[in-house]
Amino acid sequence: MSKIDTLLARRTRGHALEQAFYTDPDVFQADLESIFYREWLFAIAACELEKPGSYVTHKVGAFRVILVRGADGDIRAFHNTCRHRGSILCKAAKGHAPKLVCPYHQWTYELDGSLLWARDMGPDFDPKAHGLKTVHCRELAGLVYICLADEAPDFDTFANRARPYLEPHDLSNAKVAFESTIVENGNWKLVWENNRECYHCGGNHPALCRTYPDDPSVTGIGEGGETPPNLQAHFDRCETAGLASNFHISDDGQFRVARMPLKEGAESYTMDGKTAVRRWLGRVPFADAGALLQFHYPTTWNHFLPDHSIIFRVTPISATETEVTTKWLVHKDAVEGADYDLKRLTEVWVATNDEDRQVVEDNQMGINSPAYEPGPYSQIQESGVLQFVEWYCATLARRVAPQTLAAE
Ligand code: FES
Ligand SMILES: [Fe+2]
Repeated sequence: MSKIDTLLARRTRGHALEQAFYTDPDVFQADLESIFYREWLFAIAACELEKPGSYVTHKVGAFRVILVRGADGDIRAFHNTCRHRGSILCKAAKGHAPKLVCPYHQWTYELDGSLLWARDMGPDFDPKAHGLKTVHCRELAGLVYICLADEAPDFDTFANRARPYLEPHDLSNAKVAFESTIVENGNWKLVWENNRECYHCGGNHPALCRTYPDDPSVTGIGEGGETPPNLQAHFDRCETAGLASNFHISDDGQFRVARMPLKEGAESYTMDGKTAVRRWLGRVPFADAGALLQFHYPTTWNHFLPDHSIIFRVTPISATETEVTTKWLVHKDAVEGADYDLKRLTEVWVATNDEDRQVVEDNQMGINSPAYEPGPYSQIQESGVLQFVEWYCATLARRVAPQTLAAE
């Protein structure tokens, strides 16, 4: 039995995971190889690539990726490694280039990845055989996902379900008003576990709690049959107005969509609860439609509001470090200072992210102790954590178990 199998086999269901899941470099490597190198990963908002030649780079584990908008307007993803002697092609986090030129010997690639020019390679050299290696890339209602696997798993089940929820938010007409990247000194699963419950909110998030309800059914997974009447009434009202809103979690537990109410009278995540942007992003017809909450493991959770959207990306860096990138999207024609005040727009989640960083880091520090012993989850408050951990363990088990490896 491998180390991972052993760890999975002796897990106590309904309890936190044991220390090795959060500290062991071998488990971290298994997480990369079994999950991050295999699943669809949220990368960027499509609006970040404004015009042909706009590119961003992204690093996931050992892989480096370029996302670039082509001359035809399509977004493509390539491995960021030259087909000559392997140099990294694009070093900047983002930029604009009419062609992708390798800094080493100037091999030059079209925006569609084909090799356009390579000096003195002789008559037998075949440029067609030396195009950039592609990374699977799909755009979903203004959100761009990539997959590093040779063969990508199904994306359509997620896309077809999420699209009607996302379309009213019109993310293709968005711009990034602000972005923040923080590195949390905690395992990526601790970042997720913290995200999937609001048991910690009352004690840690004074700003968020002004508008985010203290109701486990909003954050959780709707276990136990009936949707609470207050939630169903909210879903019904939004659905009647043409907004896909009903709670849905996928059969495999990888994603969830639901348009959840905020606190009574709250419209957006601001200190006074009112909308932050005068010119709204999207076509949500009323201000108290709540937040479309979408998560897709292992890389993204999002809050789509009537006036703006906030998208999050989780990238593991090491067993005990995780990058969390947050982008606040507003309508592309909204003007800072006139239609929105940047501080007012961002202050709640800037504070919330930092508070979450702190609790994740505290959690990691405690887990690092030899005295750490996994404790039980609250069935009432932590159904979402349990659901995440079940998804994680099932996905890992499916991919590392030797007897099933051949079947995949
Ligand atoms: S390594 Fe890129 S041109 Fe030589
Ligand atoms: Fe939090």
